[in-house]
Amino acid sequence: MNILSIESSCDEMAAAIVTDMNVVKTSIVSSQIDLHKKYGGVVPELAGRHHLELVNNVVQSALDEAGMKFHDIDLFAGTRGPGLAAALLVGSTAAKSYAFALGKDFVGVNHHEAHILSVLLEHENVQFPFVSLLVSGGHTMIVIVDAPGKYRIVGATIDDAAGEAYDKVARLLGLGYPGGPLIDNLAENGNPKAFNFPRPMKDEPTKMSFSGLKTAVKYAVRDNPDASVEDICASFQAAVIDSLISKTKSTLDLLNSEELKATAISIGGGVAANSNLRSRIEDLAKEYSIRALVPDKSMCTDNAVMIAVAGKIHYDLRGPDSIGTGIDPGWKISDL
Ligand code: KG4
Ligand code: ZN
Repeated sequence: MNILSIESSCDEMAAAIVTDMNVVKTSIVSSQIDLHKKYGGVVPELAGRHHLELVNNVVQSALDEAGMKFHDIDLFAGTRGPGLAAALLVGSTAAKSYAFALGKDFVGVNHHEAHILSVLLEHENVQFPFVSLLVSGGHTMIVIVDAPGKYRIVGATIDDAAGEAYDKVARLLGLGYPGGPLIDNLAENGNPKAFNFPRPMKDEPTKMSFSGLKTAVKYAVRDNPDASVEDICASFQAAVIDSLISKTKSTLDLLNSEELKATAISIGGGVAANSNLRSRIEDLAKEYSIRALVPDKSMCTDNAVMIAVAGKIHYDLRGPDSIGTGIDPGWKISDL
């Protein structure tokens, strides 16, 4: 089965063609980072308008790269939510229109589910339940994956997402956008103990919070004008990652206390490209003697391959969606 998928929930317009869930024929990601850079974050209306200009070309390029024609496609998948309404509308409407015009099936995919299930592409024989840490610019949550399509959100941030904190701290340090990769690189040459930034919500096993941390960095910068930016980045990163790891650990303990025993820990979302987080997750998996499902960095940030993988699983479980299915900007995976 050839699946053509379109992702446009935020500032990336992406299209991919995947055969049978595991053969990636092509994956195109057109980033709008330069467009939004001057605003220090994504401007929804701009993203939507730009997606509209790009969508047909990105889809055509995917077909050309794969050496395929529209009639070779069996299933069209588009991100239905969650995300920015103006952005979601473009990719999802395009996927439905292609399906309708060609008389093919359509599936609307949940963006978070796609991040979670993307690990199934690269890792064989994944067993359930596993714990998934989903960390991105728009979302930070810990999910127990009981089976494909069955998710329990056990922990989430009560304010900023982890990636959002990276982006805001980078902005206040005058580093640029997106902040994650810039801070990640600078942190490599800094001392993570130079500043003792708070580990928020220490007594809460799974709740997270990152907005106070951002404020702590702001005051540290104000009060220590000569501090090295590398030390600030390393200390900030240590606080974010300590928090993510300790909440993931509590979730593993929770699951083990239910006598279900987690089989693996997976990570997904843009922050999962972070080098420190990736190695800490590997260490945590070793500590619990379970698998670490760490995707390739290109699969962590938004892409359409993950939409095709989740679309195929969704299609096999529940069949196609109606062409009348609308977008759902607040769609929760616990409501699937
Ligand atoms: O999943 P994604 O591409 O888009 C959203 O759905 O948000 O994630 C983008 C986020 C940004 O906040 C970016 O700063 C962060 O992921 N990010 C990172 C790294 N690479 C991207 N954060 C920390 N370390 C990285 N290496
Ligand atoms: Zn994402």
